[in-house]
Amino acid sequence: MTKVTVVGAGMVGSSTAMRIGEQRLCEELALVDVVDGVAEAMALDIGQALPFAGSDTLIAGGTGYGHTAGSDVVVITAGLPRKPGQSRADLLEANGKIIAAVAGEVRDRSPQSVVIVVTNPLDEMTALAQRLTGFPPQRVMGMAGMLDTARFRAFIAWHTKTPPTRVEALTLGSHGDTMVPVPRLSTVNGRPLAEAMPAADIDALVERTRDGGAEIVRLLKRGSAWWAPSAAITEMVRAIVRDERRVLPVSAYCRGELGIDGGVYVGVPARLGRGGVLEIVDVGLSAAELDGLRAAAAEVSQRVADLDGILAGGNGGEVAAPLSAAAAVAPAGRPRDLALESKVRTAARQVLARSGQLDRLEEVVQRAMAQLP
Ligand SMILES: NC(=O)c1ccc[n+]([C@@H]2O[C@H](COP(=O)([O-])OP(=O)(O)OC[C@H]3O[C@@H](n4cnc5c(N)ncnc54)[C@H](O)[C@@H]3O)[C@@H](O)[C@H]2O)c1
Repeated sequence: MTKVTVVGAGMVGSSTAMRIGEQRLCEELALVDVVDGVAEAMALDIGQALPFAGSDTLIAGGTGYGHTAGSDVVVITAGLPRKPGQSRADLLEANGKIIAAVAGEVRDRSPQSVVIVVTNPLDEMTALAQRLTGFPPQRVMGMAGMLDTARFRAFIAWHTKTPPTRVEALTLGSHGDTMVPVPRLSTVNGRPLAEAMPAADIDALVERTRDGGAEIVRLLKRGSAWWAPSAAITEMVRAIVRDERRVLPVSAYCRGELGIDGGVYVGVPARLGRGGVLEIVDVGLSAAELDGLRAAAAEVSQRVADLDGILAGGNGGEVAAPLSAAAAVAPAGRPRDLALESKVRTAARQVLARSGQLDRLEEVVQRAMAQLP
């Protein structure tokens, strides 16, 4: 039996619960909201709607966490959404306190769960949730890259008048100004994006993607998006509960993968399955794209460091730390060639996987890089 909890029964949380129920991804759904009556009301409404979709999923709601016990996946959407003119970073302190309140309950009630954080600012809240639950980093991840990728894909499709399902796109990095769209690996009808439109048009669509959430906030004036976010979350829940082992862009904990050192949450391609993030996958990023990822990681690390005040009372578990300047320099003092390192890591992973020694990956990569002329 599979059980999923959604914390926060607002726009994103309730639409996510509805999608998960409709798609019959679990037998039991639990909703929680701090405002009395909200989660119960949403559970009643969704429970009355699900039979239309042929779903027998049971759903319950409440302000406490008793009914969430033993969940396999917990989706955290509790928090304030942005108001017009606010950045995601403006939400840091207010939502940090909310995550702190939620994380302890998740840890105590569902100690084996995989946690998907949605609350903004995304990478920082994900790092905070990991620290305060004390869960292994591979069981805590954030949803952002899936949504940014969906937006980029839609803008490309609308611009080229191509059905969106025939467009592939990819965005990585942080959710916000340090988003790293990867037009180089994006395609229209299977052909490279650069063949479908001039570079200036690609740049304009990248900009619109970066601003995609704020565009909706400005128009709506009473909150942020929920239809595409809930679709993206549901895709991640499916990959986990069905153990699909698909590679999706998610905020995952990096300690050396893709040349991102220091232990930090940032958007990278990751293989998702029942255990959470099974591995971070190198999709052949260029040196410039890897540089963009490292810049995003450095910003997240800085903001996580700013959260120290909020973290008072945390369990001191492993958490994203600021990247040091030294991390960008190879042992011999020469600048790191991240593109080369990425290729070395891919080759090493294949060899080590065959002999069941993937736990030696970082050691082997670092040794190989140190020996290169
Ligand atoms: N990562 C993403 O891509 C992405 C996309 C959309 C929204 N978001 C974020 O998701 C969050 C929710 O957005 P929304 O549109 O659903 O907002 P919303 O205001 O509609 O819903 C948030 C809900 O959280 C509840 N809540 C607040 N504190 C709580 C607590 N301690 N415990 C349980 N519930 C609590 C509120 O009562 C409210 O019902 C925001 O932080 C928003 O910025 C992230």
